[in-house]
Amino acid sequence: MLKSLAYTALLVGGASCQNVATYVNPAVPTGVPIEGNYTGGLRPQVHFSPPQHFMNDPNGMFVDANGTWHIYYQYNPTGNAAGNQHWGHATSEDLYHWVNQPIALFPPEEMVYVFSGSAVVDVNNTSGFFPDQDNGVVAIFTLARYYEDGSAGPQTQNIAYSHDGGYTFEYYDGNPVIDSTSSQFRDPKVIWYEDHWVAVVAWSQEFVVGIFTSPDLKNWTHASNFSHHGLLGTQYECPNLVKMPVRDEDYNIVDSKYVMTISVQPGAPLGGSITEYFPGDFNGTHFTTLDDATRLTDFAKDNYAAQYFYGLPDDENAVNLGWASNWQYAQTVPTGNLENWRSAMTLPRANYLTNATRIGWVVINELYDPTPVLDAPLNESTIGNGTVTVDYSDVSSNALYIEANVTGLNTTQLTSYSTLNITFTSPASGEALRSGFFFSGDTPFFVDRGLIRGFDNVFFTDKFSVADVYSDGTGKTLASWSVQAFIDRSIAEFFVDGGVHASTVLFYPTQPLTSASVATRDLPAGAEVSVAVWSVASAWAEYENENGTVVGNVTQSSSSSTSSKRYKMYEGKFTA
Ligand code: FRU
Repeated sequence: MLKSLAYTALLVGGASCQNVATYVNPAVPTGVPIEGNYTGGLRPQVHFSPPQHFMNDPNGMFVDANGTWHIYYQYNPTGNAAGNQHWGHATSEDLYHWVNQPIALFPPEEMVYVFSGSAVVDVNNTSGFFPDQDNGVVAIFTLARYYEDGSAGPQTQNIAYSHDGGYTFEYYDGNPVIDSTSSQFRDPKVIWYEDHWVAVVAWSQEFVVGIFTSPDLKNWTHASNFSHHGLLGTQYECPNLVKMPVRDEDYNIVDSKYVMTISVQPGAPLGGSITEYFPGDFNGTHFTTLDDATRLTDFAKDNYAAQYFYGLPDDENAVNLGWASNWQYAQTVPTGNLENWRSAMTLPRANYLTNATRIGWVVINELYDPTPVLDAPLNESTIGNGTVTVDYSDVSSNALYIEANVTGLNTTQLTSYSTLNITFTSPASGEALRSGFFFSGDTPFFVDRGLIRGFDNVFFTDKFSVADVYSDGTGKTLASWSVQAFIDRSIAEFFVDGGVHASTVLFYPTQPLTSASVATRDLPAGAEVSVAVWSVASAWAEYENENGTVVGNVTQSSSSSTSSKRYKMYEGKFTA
């Protein structure tokens, strides 16, 4: 956790709403979702952001047997900076439309905060919490104690269980399940391995990921350590261990491997926060890397602490989403003062491992199927060298999806001017978000937010690029190339070459960007570029009442003014 966080929430009085007492700040609503206004000009329309106030890491992510995706998140329900950490909660049927749920986890006592962690479905009742059901959910998380003088006490690992599929939790009365005296020991991520549970937990400032095993989620044994790998930054946070398929170039699954991810901050190469990963093997107790390389999940600065969903079959791609921010400026971005919220999650990404030419192992970040929010094609063209321009000032979401696929490239005829650029501009203010690809030379893909003027912060650096190494050293080079760009008011994501590289870029324009162009130049004869530009439908607008307020998952009887669509999805499940 940031040393600078002021854990000085307004903690007065206490309340018990669960078996083991929890501490409820009177300013924090219980049992009802927090209302949000998603109409602000900077508010993403298809990315998840909290109804109000400050969010950071995704937590507890799992998909249940009905196919409902659950995310929890580090949440300060009383302020626009970190502090007073709870677990917010939202659910989705498609990973794009999110329904805000009541806060799921409250601190157990005053001056103790619920930090990051994970959740699993205990189908076989290994924990004993669920004698009569196969959909019991166990959350495992760090409780961080702070003292009146602001100093940090121990961080311990604790569990809570849910009989209603993850909506409400009760603290286990035998907590902590992994005790410690360290004030820097946190972020447990649990998976199932053959016949036991496995947790990875960070001893953050010792640069150690501890690997623990358990038969029942209550009793944990330290099994091994994975330490001092890759970039250290100044802390290890939010480790994940995830099994994912290995695919060949025809997308066939040829194997499966484990990937260890570690989020590092501060001290990332581009500044602040970043997540690195290590493909490897796991035998139930020990993790070993496949090689000595350090790889990053994102080539820009705004994707941290990503977590993988629990509950997906091994022969499907893993799915993750990350916190789309960076601790260097997360607590000062302008959305706090202007719109009373801070931070969004990245779009969902589907992940598999492949052995990419020359650069070796890579976790592919595919944009998870966006069709639920694609509205209408605004332009579909095939060009050689040329420009496609789309005015999207009429798109009420102000969000756009662009795909460009390049084929037939005669790579011997490329020049240093052979480029494809995607640019979003505000004709009103002249601001622009630029991106593009140089097909020859070092072939960098770049994103530049430097011409956007709504946020001035020395750490909000503006230019990102990645070398797209496609030559295999034998003279064979790339004949095709693709990019997908998703722009959503104040956040843009780029997926290059089918997800070999991905980036998440925040930007805060003074005026909305409303014009997009895809322009190619100096491509050799025979090159074909198919461009598709789609308007994106807001995933929040349909939940708004006539005042523009999203009230989240409350029963129809307790709210008269909300759209019925949302309730239909959940009818019978949560209504009284
Ligand atoms: C990462 C992190 C975690 C911690 C949480 C607290 O962003 O610092 O290590 O559990 O945030 O909000």
